[in-house]
Amino acid sequence: MMMRRPLGHTSQRVTPIGMGLAALGRPGYITLGHAADLQGDYSIAAMQAHTHAMLDFAWDAGIRYFDAARSYGRAEEFLGTWLAGHSFDADDLPVIGSKWGYAYTAGWNVEAEQHEVKDHTLPLLQRQWQESQKELGSFLNLYQIHSATLESGVLSRAEVLAELAAIKQRGTLIGLSLSGANQNEVLAVALEVTIEGLRLFDTVQATWNLLEPSCGPMLQSARERGLGVIIKEVFANGRLTTRNQEPGFAPQLARLTAIAKRHAATIDALALAAALAQPWADVTLSGAATPKQLQSNLAALQIALTPADWEELNSLAESPQTYWATRSRLAWN
Ligand SMILES: NC(=O)c1ccc[n+]([C@@H]2O[C@H](COP(=O)([O-])OP(=O)(O)OC[C@H]3O[C@@H](n4cnc5c(N)ncnc54)[C@H](OP(=O)(O)O)[C@@H]3O)[C@@H](O)[C@H]2O)c1
Repeated sequence: MMMRRPLGHTSQRVTPIGMGLAALGRPGYITLGHAADLQGDYSIAAMQAHTHAMLDFAWDAGIRYFDAARSYGRAEEFLGTWLAGHSFDADDLPVIGSKWGYAYTAGWNVEAEQHEVKDHTLPLLQRQWQESQKELGSFLNLYQIHSATLESGVLSRAEVLAELAAIKQRGTLIGLSLSGANQNEVLAVALEVTIEGLRLFDTVQATWNLLEPSCGPMLQSARERGLGVIIKEVFANGRLTTRNQEPGFAPQLARLTAIAKRHAATIDALALAAALAQPWADVTLSGAATPKQLQSNLAALQIALTPADWEELNSLAESPQTYWATRSRLAWN
């Protein structure tokens, strides 16, 4: 079993590994082998049963933090029905985070023109907050802005910030997630957002992985200031797994394979172990789409990386511009 630890300076206690539902709640996603994971069965009943089986597996493995979003298709609904079907001990409740800010527009279609549309305005916050509450009820502990950016204007939109502060005052933690080459700049601005003298954000969810570790120092400073830190995309959406057979990535894959071999581990476990080793990270999400993948990921808990490993692992980092340009080319499947 994984030991819980505090999520920043909040009253919630999370496990080092959490589970994200981006690949589970909808037929289409950008991870490399998503279509194969779902074996072509996109019926709502099959996808709900698959998600419930994943949640059971994760719970039995000791995972206690679960991450969803309004735009992950029916992820909140599937999570909500799973939560409602379980009885939890009062001293061992799951910690649930979700997000608002993108409308799901794929219509359950893998080939949709547009899978999600960003909208960081008050009407969408108000609508999605109602929808998230309907699906997750009192289980919902943390509500995050989905991919806050400077361009979306969300961090200077007074009416949105006031509404988030009101939600917080009624007992739900408030966070933001980040995406793109300027995660550091956005986090710096977010750290200064205050309402009536109090900092608004309790948590930050950001991309940190062996290919894109550039926001590590900023996340460390956010953690020192009391924010809970959640790492996402630790497998670079599948690029840090054996599924990545891109010819241009072959040298990096060979290096990862050699290091993993020294630990009798898989490269996905190695990638997760690297994130777990960051002292400022409270919870690291696995976006595994099958129990077999999650099982493989969990071996990370047994890996202790050495200085020699780190020397090699640090050389894998790409420039943020290169990393995010590659990510933006990943195909929905
Ligand atoms: N802006 C945001 O707020 C934001 C953005 C992205 C993600 N998130 C959150 O972070 C979570 C994780 O992100 P993510 O799923 O995009 O990325 P990820 O965790 O880096 O990648 C997950 C994918 O890696 C592959 N994988 C994992 N273990 C594997 C194994 N043992 N063998 C082969 N492949 C394996 C699978 O993809 P395939 O099988 O499809 O190849 C899996 O779906 C999401 O669920 C979501 O909760 C938030």
